[in-house]
Amino acid sequence: MSISVVARNADPAPAVIENLEQALRETIVETAKAQTYHWNVTGMAFGPLHALFQEIYEDHFAAQDTLAKLIKALGSHADGRLIKAIEASKISECDGAISSTQMIENLARDQRLLSSTLRQIASISEEQEDIVTADFAIERAAAHDNFAWMLAAHLEG
Ligand SMILES: [Fe+2]
Repeated sequence: MSISVVARNADPAPAVIENLEQALRETIVETAKAQTYHWNVTGMAFGPLHALFQEIYEDHFAAQDTLAKLIKALGSHADGRLIKAIEASKISECDGAISSTQMIENLARDQRLLSSTLRQIASISEEQEDIVTADFAIERAAAHDNFAWMLAAHLEG
């Protein structure tokens, strides 16, 4: 995903900027977590989970870039420091030394949290008539909802 044309909002709501920065931090932490799980997953579902976790971290790596560009386009600063991302993210790091079921549960919870952050951005942006930011946030919320659904489906049955 990329933003080829960004209609800069002359006066973006502080809450939009704050939530975009929070979404960037959480996406950074979730990228590393999904890749750690991709490396360490074991068990009978190794193949599909190894692939799904890769799909998540590749999606999130690209999303980091888009989030950072949007933050810059709205006149703020894109802080990429890992220590700041970890300190402020509601999503925690994980060393990957856990079962595949715990990995799925953790990522599904994280994806719902990311979706909630993006939905807040969409809601506030729509109120501000910043349809470019709202459109991006809706698309990202849908991507996180889709990952949450795919992950949770492994725990059914
Ligand atoms: Fe790999």
